[in-house]
Amino acid sequence: MRLVSGIQPSGNITLGNYLGAIKQYIKLQEELKEAEIFIFIADLHALTVPQERQALQKSIKSLAALYLASGLERDRVNLFIQSEIPAHSQLGYIMESTVYVPELQRMTQYKDKIAKQKEGIKASLLTYPALMAADILLYNADLVPIGDDQKQHLELTRTLAERFNNTYGNTFVVPKGYFPKTGARIMSLTEPTKKMSKSEENPKGTIYLLDPINQSKNKIRSAVTDSDTKIYYDKKNKPGISNLLDIYSALKGSSIKELEKQYQNSSYRELKEDLANLLEVVITPIQEKYFQIINSKELTETLNIGKERASLIASRTIAKVYRKLGILR
Ligand code: AMP
Ligand code: TRP
Repeated sequence: MRLVSGIQPSGNITLGNYLGAIKQYIKLQEELKEAEIFIFIADLHALTVPQERQALQKSIKSLAALYLASGLERDRVNLFIQSEIPAHSQLGYIMESTVYVPELQRMTQYKDKIAKQKEGIKASLLTYPALMAADILLYNADLVPIGDDQKQHLELTRTLAERFNNTYGNTFVVPKGYFPKTGARIMSLTEPTKKMSKSEENPKGTIYLLDPINQSKNKIRSAVTDSDTKIYYDKKNKPGISNLLDIYSALKGSSIKELEKQYQNSSYRELKEDLANLLEVVITPIQEKYFQIINSKELTETLNIGKERASLIASRTIAKVYRKLGILR
């Protein structure tokens, strides 16, 4: 059993990344004792939009430290940087030669991004899912923990694996997605119908894992709600309160039903105050660990070991793929 996932180091890591992705990695690390786990920093994916050199370098290292600070164990997980394994780019190209252009143009994330951007759209923004498929198929992953927004990219990965297998004979494992029960889609605190995202223009809507905790608690306190007073889950009519309940449930591990019951006679203010305190309890130890790790030898060593293991598996896969394609002397 193999598990693969990654996060882009574009900007600061959000509570959405933590609850939708990182927390799931930790859970699976504990539950699937036999699984081999590959978690990486998807730095090449960050190049689909302009990046500032120094900021990118800092974000790469910061994300690596955050993975460890959040509880990924260096003995259990192969932690590595995507760009350090050239096979990602190599198989990415093969996947570009497997996917059809309309399949890429149909991706919701692509459509959303070009609608916002209009100018200076890079070809890699379109071909991004081909590289993502390569990231996964290189390791013959069975399971890919991701948030809901990546579902479509994973479906495409499955299609490409099957297409390649049908044409060239069985080569790739067709991976399955693993989606969190709660926290799969954390919404913006200011616009609760929009995803909480790293690239948010309004920073009040997004909680960044490494921000001073009081700032984050205040963002919870000023989260947009509605003019009703009752606390219950209703995504359509009460997106703000539902989002707070989602965050609460994902942080605490209690069900939405339990929370509805617990808060049936409480005010919005009480819910927000409790959630702000819960956030502090969860995030403070992660931040403390982060600052211990960020400049440590441990971090460098972990990335070196991860790179070695990932390299071994990835280079075997790419050799096999080239052979199947007839790219041989
Ligand atoms: P990205 O920030 O696009 O690199 O996403 C990295 C991982 O975090 C992916 O598995 C996403 O599905 C997950 N993720 C990002 N934003 C959210 C969100 N608002 N809610 C839940 N999961 C998220
Ligand atoms: N595309 C993912 C995102 O933006 C990040 C990612 C890149 C990824 N390659 C991956 C996630 C492979 C899982 C597996 O969220």
